[in-house]
Amino acid sequence: MNSLKELLEKVKQIFENEPFIFEPRELYTPIDYTLSLGGKRIRPVLLMAGCEMFGGDINQVKDAALGIETFHNFTLLHDDLMDKSPIRRGQPTVYRKWNENTAILSGDTMFALAWRYFLRQSHPALQDILNTFNETAIGVCEGQQYDMNFETRNDVSIAEYMEMIRLKTAILLAGALKIGAQYANAPESDIQHLYDFGIHIGLAFQLQDDLLDAFGDVKVFGKQTGTDISDNKKTYLYLKALELADEQQRDTLQQLFATTPANPEEKIRTVLGIYQDLDVRNTVENIVNEEFAIALNELDAIHVDPKNKATLNELANTLLGRKV
Ligand code: IPE
Ligand code: IPE
Ligand code: MG
Ligand code: MG
Ligand code: MG
Repeated sequence: MNSLKELLEKVKQIFENEPFIFEPRELYTPIDYTLSLGGKRIRPVLLMAGCEMFGGDINQVKDAALGIETFHNFTLLHDDLMDKSPIRRGQPTVYRKWNENTAILSGDTMFALAWRYFLRQSHPALQDILNTFNETAIGVCEGQQYDMNFETRNDVSIAEYMEMIRLKTAILLAGALKIGAQYANAPESDIQHLYDFGIHIGLAFQLQDDLLDAFGDVKVFGKQTGTDISDNKKTYLYLKALELADEQQRDTLQQLFATTPANPEEKIRTVLGIYQDLDVRNTVENIVNEEFAIALNELDAIHVDPKNKATLNELANTLLGRKV
C-alpha cells in the first residue's frame, strides 16, 4: 500500500512523463498549461487508492489515472467559461489567457485524450470500466446543466441543490474510486460501499468549495472569491440564508440574486454580510462534517484489512480541513 504522499508523487511522475504538446500548438499549449499547473490531483489518487485497497497493482492503472485527471481538467476549461471565472490555481483561466474558442476546443480534445489514455492499457473488465467512466461523464454534464438552470430559478430546494452537486462533483470522485476497484476485480458489494464513500466525500468537497468561494483566501484558494454570489449560484449557503432570513433580508437576497451588476463588489459585500448575520457558514460546516462522518462509515463497511483503508482515511482527514 502506498501512502497518500507516495500516490501523489506517482501521479506527479505520470504527468511529467506524458507529452502534451503536439501540432497545432494553439490547440495543445493550453492543454499542457492546464495539466502542468497541477491542482490537488485528488481523482487520480482516489483511483489508485481504490485499486490498491483490493490488492491491485497501481502500474495497471497509470493510464486510467491520467485519463480521469485529464477528464476533470477538461470540465474545468468549460466550467470557467460558463462561470466567467478569471483565475484557477492562481493563474489566468484558459479562456482569459487565450480566448473562448480555445477553451472549448482544447477542452473537447482533453475529453478525447482521456479516452485515449483509458484505452491504452488492456484489461478484461475494460468495457465495464469505460462504462463507469462514460456514465460518470454524462452525469457531470447533467449536474453542470442543473447548476446553470438554478442561476435563473428562485425556487430551488436544498434537496435539489444536493442532487445537483452529487452529479456535478461527487460522482466523479466516486467514479474514480469505483474504476480503481474495477481494475482490481473487487466484489460488487464492496464497490458499492466504496462508491458511497466517494459520494459523501464528494458532497462534502463541493460544500467546502462553496464555503471557500464565499470565505476563502484568494491567494491560498487560487480562485477568485465571490463568484458564486456574482453568478447567482444557488448554493447551500444561499438557500440556508433564505430559510433563516427575516422578511427584509429575504427581499434583499432575492433582489440581489435576480441581478448581475457589472461591478458586483457591493452585491458580494451585502450578501456576505447577511450570511454572517445568519451564521450560515457554521450551518454548512456542520453539514460538511456530517457528510465526512457518513463517508467514513461507508469506508468502515468495506471487507478488507483496515490497513488497506489507511490511505483513503488519510485522504478524507486531509480534505476535512482544506483551505484550497
Ligand atoms: C474543482 O476541483 C472543481 C470542483 C469540483 C470544486 P478541485 O478543487 O479538485 O480542483 P483542482 O484540480 O485541485 O485544481
Ligand atoms: C464545478 O463546480 C464542478 C465542475 C467543474 C464539474 P464549481 O464551478 O463550483 O467549481 P470551481 O469553483 O469553478 O472550481
Ligand atoms: Mg466554476
Ligand atoms: Mg461551475
Ligand atoms: Mg466553486
